[in-house]
Amino acid sequence: MTPAWLDRYRQRVDAALDRWLPQEDVAPGRLHEAMRYAVLAPGKRVRPALCYAAGDSLGIPLERLDGPACAVELIHAYSLIHDDLPAMDNDDLRRGRPTCHRQFDEATAILAGDALMALAFRILAHDPTMVEDPATRLQMIDLLASACGSRGMVGGQSLDLAAEGKTIDRSELEYIHIRKTGALIHVSVMLAACSSETASERQREHLEHMAKHIGLAFQIQDDVLDVCGNTQTLGKTRGRDRERSKATYPGLMGLEPARELALELHQQALSALAPFADHAEPLRLLCNYLMHREA
Ligand code: IPE
Ligand code: IPE
Ligand code: MG
Ligand code: MG
Ligand code: MG
Repeated sequence: MTPAWLDRYRQRVDAALDRWLPQEDVAPGRLHEAMRYAVLAPGKRVRPALCYAAGDSLGIPLERLDGPACAVELIHAYSLIHDDLPAMDNDDLRRGRPTCHRQFDEATAILAGDALMALAFRILAHDPTMVEDPATRLQMIDLLASACGSRGMVGGQSLDLAAEGKTIDRSELEYIHIRKTGALIHVSVMLAACSSETASERQREHLEHMAKHIGLAFQIQDDVLDVCGNTQTLGKTRGRDRERSKATYPGLMGLEPARELALELHQQALSALAPFADHAEPLRLLCNYLMHREA
Protein backbone atom coordinates (compact mmCIF):
# COMPACT_ATOMS: atom_id res chain seq x y z
CA MET A 1 0.00 0.00 0.00
CA THR A 2 1.33 3.39 -0.95
CA PRO A 3 0.73 6.15 1.58
CA ALA A 4 -1.52 8.93 0.27
CA TRP A 5 1.12 11.64 0.63
CA LEU A 6 3.51 9.66 -1.57
CA ASP A 7 0.76 9.01 -4.10
CA ARG A 8 0.26 12.74 -4.39
CA TYR A 9 3.90 13.23 -5.45
CA ARG A 10 3.74 10.20 -7.72
CA GLN A 11 0.62 11.31 -9.51
CA ARG A 12 2.11 14.75 -9.93
CA VAL A 13 5.35 13.55 -11.52
CA ASP A 14 3.57 10.90 -13.60
CA ALA A 15 1.29 13.52 -15.12
CA ALA A 16 4.28 15.73 -15.92
CA LEU A 17 6.26 12.80 -17.37
CA ASP A 18 3.28 11.87 -19.52
CA ARG A 19 3.23 15.42 -20.91
CA TRP A 20 6.95 15.48 -21.71
CA LEU A 21 7.31 12.01 -23.22
CA PRO A 22 6.41 11.92 -26.93
CA GLN A 23 3.39 9.75 -27.72
CA GLU A 24 3.78 6.37 -29.42
CA ASP A 25 2.14 7.64 -32.60
CA VAL A 26 4.88 10.24 -33.03
CA ALA A 27 7.79 8.96 -35.17
CA PRO A 28 9.93 7.04 -34.39
CA GLY A 29 7.01 5.23 -32.78
CA ARG A 30 8.83 2.17 -31.52
CA LEU A 31 11.46 4.26 -29.77
CA HIS A 32 8.82 6.44 -28.13
CA GLU A 33 6.88 3.36 -27.12
CA ALA A 34 9.99 1.93 -25.43
CA MET A 35 10.67 5.23 -23.63
CA ARG A 36 7.12 5.40 -22.28
CA TYR A 37 7.16 1.69 -21.41
CA ALA A 38 10.24 2.08 -19.23
CA VAL A 39 9.46 5.42 -17.60
CA LEU A 40 5.75 5.06 -16.91
CA ALA A 41 6.08 1.51 -15.50
CA PRO A 42 5.12 1.30 -11.82
CA GLY A 43 8.32 2.42 -10.06
CA LYS A 44 8.36 4.01 -6.62
CA ARG A 45 9.30 7.49 -7.91
CA VAL A 46 11.60 7.94 -4.92
CA ARG A 47 13.79 10.58 -6.54
CA PRO A 48 10.91 12.85 -7.62
CA ALA A 49 9.35 12.37 -4.17
CA LEU A 50 12.61 13.48 -2.53
CA CYS A 51 12.73 16.51 -4.79
CA TYR A 52 9.13 17.51 -3.96
CA ALA A 53 9.48 16.74 -0.25
CA ALA A 54 12.68 18.80 -0.04
CA GLY A 55 10.75 21.55 -1.81
CA ASP A 56 7.95 21.28 0.74
CA SER A 57 10.51 21.66 3.54
CA LEU A 58 11.60 24.96 1.95
CA GLY A 59 8.10 26.20 1.13
CA ILE A 60 8.58 26.03 -2.66
CA PRO A 61 5.44 25.81 -4.85
CA LEU A 62 5.52 22.24 -6.18
CA GLU A 63 4.86 23.24 -9.79
CA ARG A 64 8.32 24.81 -9.82
CA LEU A 65 9.73 21.35 -9.14
CA ASP A 66 7.87 19.38 -11.81
CA GLY A 67 10.79 19.92 -14.22
CA PRO A 68 13.56 18.76 -11.85
CA ALA A 69 11.38 15.87 -10.60
CA CYS A 70 10.86 14.68 -14.19
CA ALA A 71 14.53 15.15 -15.03
CA VAL A 72 15.80 12.96 -12.18
CA GLU A 73 13.22 10.24 -12.86
CA LEU A 74 14.13 10.21 -16.56
CA ILE A 75 17.81 9.83 -15.74
CA HIS A 76 16.90 7.07 -13.29
CA ALA A 77 14.73 5.25 -15.87
CA TYR A 78 17.53 5.49 -18.44
CA SER A 79 20.01 4.12 -15.90
CA LEU A 80 17.72 1.15 -15.18
CA ILE A 81 17.27 0.32 -18.88
CA HIS A 82 21.02 0.28 -19.41
CA ASP A 83 21.70 -1.46 -16.06
CA ASP A 84 19.46 -4.36 -17.16
CA LEU A 85 21.15 -4.87 -20.55
CA PRO A 86 23.00 -8.15 -21.24
CA ALA A 87 26.29 -6.22 -21.24
CA MET A 88 25.60 -5.03 -17.70
CA ASP A 89 23.42 -6.92 -15.16
CA ASN A 90 21.57 -8.95 -17.79
CA ASP A 91 18.15 -8.91 -16.12
CA ASP A 92 14.80 -9.99 -17.53
CA LEU A 93 12.41 -8.45 -15.02
CA ARG A 94 12.01 -4.81 -14.01
CA ARG A 95 9.11 -3.16 -12.20
CA GLY A 96 7.20 -6.43 -12.55
CA ARG A 97 7.49 -6.49 -16.33
CA PRO A 98 9.97 -7.71 -18.95
CA THR A 99 13.01 -5.41 -19.07
CA CYS A 100 13.07 -2.92 -21.93
CA HIS A 101 15.49 -4.93 -24.09
CA ARG A 102 13.36 -8.05 -23.54
CA GLN A 103 10.12 -6.31 -24.43
CA PHE A 104 11.64 -4.53 -27.44
CA ASP A 105 15.22 -5.30 -28.49
CA GLU A 106 18.68 -4.31 -27.34
CA ALA A 107 19.24 -1.53 -29.84
CA THR A 108 15.88 0.04 -29.03
CA ALA A 109 16.60 -0.21 -25.30
CA ILE A 110 20.01 1.46 -25.66
CA LEU A 111 18.53 4.24 -27.78
CA ALA A 112 15.54 4.72 -25.47
CA GLY A 113 17.98 5.22 -22.59
CA ASP A 114 20.01 7.71 -24.63
CA ALA A 115 16.90 9.67 -25.57
CA LEU A 116 15.63 9.75 -21.97
CA MET A 117 18.88 11.30 -20.82
CA ALA A 118 18.65 13.94 -23.54
CA LEU A 119 15.03 14.67 -22.58
CA ALA A 120 16.03 15.17 -18.94
CA PHE A 121 18.44 17.95 -19.88
CA ARG A 122 16.02 19.47 -22.36
CA ILE A 123 13.46 19.80 -19.57
CA LEU A 124 15.92 21.61 -17.29
CA ALA A 125 16.81 23.96 -20.13
CA HIS A 126 13.29 24.52 -21.39
CA ASP A 127 10.58 24.06 -18.73
CA PRO A 128 8.74 27.39 -18.32
CA THR A 129 7.45 26.61 -14.81
CA MET A 130 10.89 26.18 -13.21
CA VAL A 131 12.88 28.86 -11.41
CA GLU A 132 13.55 31.59 -13.99
CA ASP A 133 17.01 32.94 -13.17
CA PRO A 134 19.30 31.77 -16.05
CA ALA A 135 22.37 31.36 -13.79
CA THR A 136 20.40 29.10 -11.45
CA ARG A 137 19.09 27.07 -14.37
CA LEU A 138 22.62 26.61 -15.66
CA GLN A 139 23.75 25.54 -12.20
CA MET A 140 20.97 22.94 -12.09
CA ILE A 141 22.01 21.53 -15.48
CA ASP A 142 25.60 21.42 -14.28
CA LEU A 143 24.64 19.63 -11.05
CA LEU A 144 22.62 16.99 -12.86
CA ALA A 145 25.33 16.47 -15.49
CA SER A 146 27.94 15.98 -12.76
CA ALA A 147 25.70 13.62 -10.80
CA CYS A 148 25.05 11.32 -13.73
CA GLY A 149 28.42 11.51 -15.49
CA SER A 150 31.68 9.61 -15.23
CA ARG A 151 32.38 10.94 -11.74
CA GLY A 152 28.84 10.21 -10.61
CA MET A 153 26.29 7.56 -11.56
CA VAL A 154 27.92 6.28 -14.75
CA GLY A 155 31.31 6.15 -13.01
CA GLY A 156 29.75 4.14 -10.20
CA GLN A 157 28.18 1.75 -12.68
CA SER A 158 31.53 1.27 -14.37
CA LEU A 159 33.20 0.43 -11.04
CA ASP A 160 30.28 -1.83 -10.04
CA LEU A 161 30.88 -3.93 -13.16
CA ALA A 162 34.64 -3.94 -12.66
CA ALA A 163 34.14 -5.22 -9.09
CA GLU A 164 32.12 -8.29 -10.16
CA GLY A 165 33.82 -11.42 -8.85
CA LYS A 166 36.42 -9.40 -6.93
CA THR A 167 36.91 -8.86 -3.23
CA ILE A 168 36.86 -5.17 -2.41
CA ASP A 169 36.98 -3.45 0.96
CA ARG A 170 34.31 -1.38 2.63
CA SER A 171 35.65 1.99 1.56
CA GLU A 172 35.81 0.86 -2.08
CA LEU A 173 32.25 -0.44 -1.90
CA GLU A 174 31.06 2.79 -0.30
CA TYR A 175 32.78 4.72 -3.09
CA ILE A 176 30.83 2.71 -5.70
CA HIS A 177 27.45 2.94 -3.95
CA ILE A 178 27.76 6.68 -3.31
CA ARG A 179 28.25 7.17 -7.02
CA LYS A 180 26.05 4.61 -8.74
CA THR A 181 22.99 5.42 -6.61
CA GLY A 182 23.82 8.13 -4.07
CA ALA A 183 24.71 10.80 -6.62
CA LEU A 184 21.28 10.88 -8.28
CA ILE A 185 19.47 10.82 -4.94
CA HIS A 186 21.66 13.64 -3.71
CA VAL A 187 21.02 15.78 -6.77
CA SER A 188 17.26 15.15 -6.54
CA VAL A 189 17.31 17.02 -3.22
CA MET A 190 19.82 19.66 -4.29
CA LEU A 191 17.77 20.62 -7.38
CA ALA A 192 14.95 21.47 -4.98
CA ALA A 193 17.35 23.54 -2.84
CA CYS A 194 18.47 25.41 -5.99
CA SER A 195 14.84 26.20 -6.76
CA SER A 196 14.40 28.14 -3.53
CA GLU A 197 15.12 31.86 -3.49
CA THR A 198 15.12 31.98 0.30
CA ALA A 199 16.94 28.82 1.50
CA SER A 200 19.87 29.66 3.78
CA GLU A 201 23.30 28.12 3.41
CA ARG A 202 22.66 26.21 6.61
CA GLN A 203 19.40 24.76 5.31
CA ARG A 204 21.16 23.64 2.12
CA GLU A 205 23.88 21.96 4.17
CA HIS A 206 21.33 20.10 6.27
CA LEU A 207 19.47 18.91 3.18
CA GLU A 208 22.74 17.83 1.62
CA HIS A 209 23.65 15.87 4.76
CA MET A 210 20.24 14.16 4.75
CA ALA A 211 20.49 13.32 1.03
CA LYS A 212 23.98 11.81 1.28
CA HIS A 213 23.00 9.50 4.11
CA ILE A 214 19.70 8.46 2.57
CA GLY A 215 21.41 7.84 -0.78
CA LEU A 216 23.93 5.38 0.61
CA ALA A 217 21.30 3.74 2.82
CA PHE A 218 19.08 3.29 -0.23
CA GLN A 219 21.63 1.21 -2.13
CA ILE A 220 22.57 -0.81 0.96
CA GLN A 221 18.89 -1.66 1.34
CA ASP A 222 18.67 -2.52 -2.34
CA ASP A 223 21.51 -4.99 -1.73
CA VAL A 224 19.72 -6.35 1.36
CA LEU A 225 16.44 -6.77 -0.53
CA ASP A 226 18.24 -8.70 -3.24
CA VAL A 227 19.07 -11.26 -0.55
CA CYS A 228 15.89 -11.38 1.49
CA GLY A 229 13.20 -9.69 -0.63
CA ASN A 230 10.56 -11.33 -2.75
CA THR A 231 10.70 -11.29 -6.55
CA GLN A 232 7.04 -10.48 -6.92
CA THR A 233 7.08 -7.60 -4.44
CA LEU A 234 10.41 -6.30 -5.74
CA GLY A 235 9.31 -6.51 -9.38
CA LYS A 236 12.83 -7.70 -10.18
CA THR A 237 14.49 -11.09 -9.76
CA ARG A 238 15.79 -11.64 -6.26
CA GLY A 239 19.25 -13.17 -5.82
CA ARG A 240 20.82 -11.73 -8.96
CA ASP A 241 23.67 -10.04 -7.07
CA ARG A 242 24.91 -13.35 -5.78
CA GLU A 243 24.50 -15.02 -9.15
CA ARG A 244 26.60 -12.30 -10.74
CA SER A 245 29.12 -12.16 -7.86
CA LYS A 246 28.39 -8.46 -7.28
CA ALA A 247 30.15 -6.55 -4.56
CA THR A 248 27.39 -5.79 -2.02
CA TYR A 249 27.08 -4.79 1.63
CA PRO A 250 25.48 -8.07 2.77
CA GLY A 251 28.23 -9.91 0.86
CA LEU A 252 30.92 -7.82 2.51
CA MET A 253 29.69 -7.56 6.10
CA GLY A 254 26.76 -9.99 6.43
CA LEU A 255 23.03 -9.41 6.20
CA GLU A 256 22.29 -8.19 9.73
CA PRO A 257 25.20 -5.73 9.95
CA ALA A 258 24.23 -4.35 6.52
CA ARG A 259 20.66 -3.85 7.74
CA GLU A 260 21.91 -2.13 10.87
CA LEU A 261 24.18 0.15 8.88
CA ALA A 262 21.27 1.19 6.64
CA LEU A 263 19.19 1.97 9.76
CA GLU A 264 22.04 3.98 11.25
CA LEU A 265 22.40 6.01 8.06
CA HIS A 266 18.65 6.62 8.06
CA GLN A 267 18.82 7.91 11.62
CA GLN A 268 21.60 10.28 10.63
CA ALA A 269 19.50 11.46 7.71
CA LEU A 270 16.58 12.11 10.05
CA SER A 271 18.73 13.99 12.54
CA ALA A 272 19.80 16.40 9.78
CA LEU A 273 16.14 17.37 9.41
CA ALA A 274 15.69 18.55 12.99
CA PRO A 275 16.23 22.28 12.23
CA PHE A 276 13.35 22.27 9.75
CA ALA A 277 10.81 21.41 12.47
CA ASP A 278 7.35 20.69 11.03
CA HIS A 279 8.26 21.81 7.52
CA ALA A 280 10.31 18.65 7.04
CA GLU A 281 7.41 16.33 7.89
CA PRO A 282 7.04 15.09 4.28
CA LEU A 283 10.79 14.39 4.15
CA ARG A 284 10.61 12.57 7.48
CA LEU A 285 7.69 10.45 6.29
CA LEU A 286 9.61 9.68 3.13
CA CYS A 287 12.74 8.68 5.08
CA ASN A 288 10.61 6.41 7.28
CA TYR A 289 8.91 4.89 4.25
CA LEU A 290 12.31 4.21 2.68
CA MET A 291 13.60 2.71 5.91
CA HIS A 292 10.84 0.11 6.00
CA ARG A 293 10.39 -0.54 2.30
CA GLU A 294 10.02 -4.05 0.93
CA ALA A 295 10.43 -3.04 -2.72
C1 IPE B 1 16.56 0.67 -8.24
O1 IPE B 1 16.00 1.89 -7.89
C2 IPE B 1 17.96 0.85 -8.66
C3 IPE B 1 18.81 1.49 -7.66
C4 IPE B 1 19.47 2.57 -7.90
C5 IPE B 1 18.96 0.88 -6.34
P1 IPE B 1 14.53 1.98 -7.29
O2 IPE B 1 14.38 1.00 -6.18
O3 IPE B 1 14.22 3.41 -6.97
O4 IPE B 1 13.64 1.48 -8.52
P2 IPE B 1 12.16 1.88 -8.98
O5 IPE B 1 12.24 3.23 -9.60
O6 IPE B 1 11.25 1.85 -7.79
O7 IPE B 1 11.80 0.83 -9.99
C1 IPE C 1 21.67 0.05 -10.10
O1 IPE C 1 22.09 -0.73 -9.07
C2 IPE C 1 22.18 1.45 -10.03
C3 IPE C 1 21.80 2.16 -11.24
C4 IPE C 1 20.89 1.76 -12.08
C5 IPE C 1 22.48 3.38 -11.53
P1 IPE C 1 21.56 -2.23 -9.13
O2 IPE C 1 22.06 -2.95 -10.32
O3 IPE C 1 21.78 -2.84 -7.80
O4 IPE C 1 19.98 -1.96 -9.31
P2 IPE C 1 18.91 -3.12 -9.47
O5 IPE C 1 19.05 -4.02 -8.28
O6 IPE C 1 19.19 -3.80 -10.77
O7 IPE C 1 17.60 -2.39 -9.47
MG1 MG D 1 23.74 -2.85 -11.55
MG1 MG E 1 20.95 -4.20 -11.67
MG1 MG F 1 20.43 -4.12 -6.83
